[in-house]
Amino acid sequence: MEARGKRFPKQRQVLILFFLLGAAKAGWEPLRYSVMEETERGSFVANVAKDIGLKVGELSAREARVVSEDNQPRLQLDLQSGELTLNEKLDREDLCGSTEPCVMNFQVLLKKPLQVFRAQLLVRDINDHSPEFSEREMVLKILENSSPGTVFSLKKAQDLDVGDNNIQNYTIGLNSYFHVSTRTRGDGTKYPELVLDKELDREEVAELRLTLTALDGGSPQRSGTSQIRIVVLDINDNAPEFAQTLYKAQVPENSPVGSLVVKVSARDLDAGTNGQISYSLFYSSQEISKTFELSSFTGEIRLIKKLDFETISSYELDIEASDGGGLNGKCSVSIKVLDVNDNSPELTISSLTNPIPENSPETEVALFKIRDRDSGENGKMVCSIQDNVPFMLKPSVENFYRLVTEGGLDRESQAEYNITITATDLGTPRLKTQLNITVLVSDINDNAPAFTQTSYTLFVRENNSPALHIGTISATDRDSGTNAQVAYSLLPPQDPHLPLASLVSINADNGHLFALRALDYEALQAFEFRVGATDRGSPALSSEALVRVVVVDANDNYLVTKVVAVDGDSGQNAWLSFQLLKATEPGLFSVWAHNGEVRTARLLSERDAAKHRLLVLVKDNGEPPQSASVTLHVLLVDGFSQPYLPLPEAAAEQAQADSLTVYLVIALASVSSLFLFSVVLFVAVRLCGRHRAASAGVCSVPEGHFPGHLVDVSGTGTLSHSYQYEVCLTGESESNEFKFLKPILPSVLGQDSRRKPEFPE
Ligand SMILES: *[C@@H]1O[C@H](CO)[C@@H](O)[C@H](O)[C@H]1NC(C)=O
Ligand SMILES: *[C@@H]1O[C@H](CO)[C@@H](O)[C@H](O)[C@H]1NC(C)=O
Ligand SMILES: *[C@@H]1O[C@H](CO)[C@@H](O)[C@H](O)[C@H]1NC(C)=O
Repeated sequence: MEARGKRFPKQRQVLILFFLLGAAKAGWEPLRYSVMEETERGSFVANVAKDIGLKVGELSAREARVVSEDNQPRLQLDLQSGELTLNEKLDREDLCGSTEPCVMNFQVLLKKPLQVFRAQLLVRDINDHSPEFSEREMVLKILENSSPGTVFSLKKAQDLDVGDNNIQNYTIGLNSYFHVSTRTRGDGTKYPELVLDKELDREEVAELRLTLTALDGGSPQRSGTSQIRIVVLDINDNAPEFAQTLYKAQVPENSPVGSLVVKVSARDLDAGTNGQISYSLFYSSQEISKTFELSSFTGEIRLIKKLDFETISSYELDIEASDGGGLNGKCSVSIKVLDVNDNSPELTISSLTNPIPENSPETEVALFKIRDRDSGENGKMVCSIQDNVPFMLKPSVENFYRLVTEGGLDRESQAEYNITITATDLGTPRLKTQLNITVLVSDINDNAPAFTQTSYTLFVRENNSPALHIGTISATDRDSGTNAQVAYSLLPPQDPHLPLASLVSINADNGHLFALRALDYEALQAFEFRVGATDRGSPALSSEALVRVVVVDANDNYLVTKVVAVDGDSGQNAWLSFQLLKATEPGLFSVWAHNGEVRTARLLSERDAAKHRLLVLVKDNGEPPQSASVTLHVLLVDGFSQPYLPLPEAAAEQAQADSLTVYLVIALASVSSLFLFSVVLFVAVRLCGRHRAASAGVCSVPEGHFPGHLVDVSGTGTLSHSYQYEVCLTGESESNEFKFLKPILPSVLGQDSRRKPEFPE
């Protein structure tokens, strides 16, 4: 409104541009006037009186008035001056809107006489309105890949003014993507179009704000603006892209299940689902999918199974990232499993020689292989055995070792070795494996039998029973098995005259020596021979020892009785000598020539007959020699204290005996035997309990049985019984028969304290 006021004076001069056609003349030609809109009230429009040809004053006389079509008193007629003025300010836009030209029809009415003049008032536009957009902001969504040149319609602005005052042009702010072109419709209105100059990239610019200006053609020019917000719509023009094309990860093989191996990450520049990434294994072997788990959401790869470097040491995974729009990207993941020293070395015996023979030079006992399934230091190994054994390890081809002896072994000093082979790896912590091998040393016949003594002395009591075990020799062999089995033998004697083979024999297996026959001290007091011990090895080894057998004298010449003879002569004529003229068993008894003692010549045995008759001759040294004889009846009896029947032979010869001699003998014998009996009884009582010895005697009768034929040659034993015997001796007459008792003392005592009866001739 202010603008209109200012313009007013100028308009005024333009007022009278019209078509002055005399209304009175034409009659129907309307009076035409024009006025600028917004002209002030009271402004002069035209002088109607003049235009219709009336004089001043006539108007009032004729009662002229202005009648508008819509009865709005917009114009006022001054009847005095005839001037038509604006009764109000006119707004073209109010009156006519967009209609152009804007014409107001009215009449000038004269009442007296009635006359009507038609008139038109043209309301002319002034630029009193600015272009206006209906919205302060327009939102335009444009796909980012729209091609340059694409046109987008924009809402036009509105300007109430018309003509040049209406919108003429649209512009937008400077930018590199769009320009605006102004188009004209068929009805002449202008509208803007947005033209894309350059492809949009949502990932670069997701939204643009531009100011759209509408300009009218008025003067001064008016404008209106609106904001255009351009939203660049995403299209899935970006595939997911991994931060790295190759991810490398290292995982110790003992990592627990669930541990994170690596996290892959891809990004997608697109928005929305086009930018939503999910990860998946592009290609996966069964092993990989059993071992790893890929989170499709986070891209984390985790273990779902324990790793084993020794089985699989690396994995290659291809991972795909897909966005919601179906685009995808790939990366590779290389997972290296790091070795952990989780495997002990392994020891495998390939060959084992057991047992090994002794005395052999360096010998291979075992060939074995060591292995460690770990790698690197964890898989390096050292191998050893304990120090204190005569064995050593020798490396052979590639992880093979030989266990060899250092040299010859001696089974006799150690027959068995426990070897502990230890394989240790160099990892952390060190792991070791032990294997125990028991090595047996087999025997070689390298030891000869050895006698327990270099020489043996054996004592054998004479008169031994045949096949008597007289002693044992023994040799040991340090070898084993047959190499240690010893056989004993007699070696040929040095003295070729010694009848060794008939004297002794040896048990080859146990070294027992036996006398083959009764030895006689009186014939052979000692003898020597060599024995050999030979093992059964191959070759056999042997050794020898000396055995000396000493025959121990036994008192085997036992006094039976004594015959006594008297000679009345003297000197040489009374020198008597006795001799055994006849005996039932020669060799069993002997008579000593000088004193008439009758003795046993050997030990009695059970086989000897019970009764013996001895004919003893005595002769003097006279010239011619005189002689006499006596017959002795010896009865070998069992038991003692039994009265004995007279010997039949004795009875038969009784009568021949000289009775005087008989009486004398009886008297003497009685006295002697009584004395002797008492002495013997006394001695027997004293000694009987103390001594035990082998014994033999006339009429010797064991209480149980006759002593066995094995006699302890060493003399260590004593007889468990004292033998008592009864000697029965018969003379030529009945009265010649004596009885006496005495104990048989062990012969080793060598004593004989008995008295002998005399047998006077
Ligand atoms: C519209 O405005 C532009 C920029 O101001 C100008 O280059 C162009 O000539 C104008 N067009 C009209 C028809 O006035
Ligand atoms: C060897 O080991 C065995 C079994 O442990 C044992 O009986 C034997 O006495 C050992 N031998 C040696 C020589 O240590
Ligand atoms: C091997 O022998 C050693 C020493 O005798 C012993 O300590 C170890 O336990 C044995 N090892 C095996 C595997 O028998």
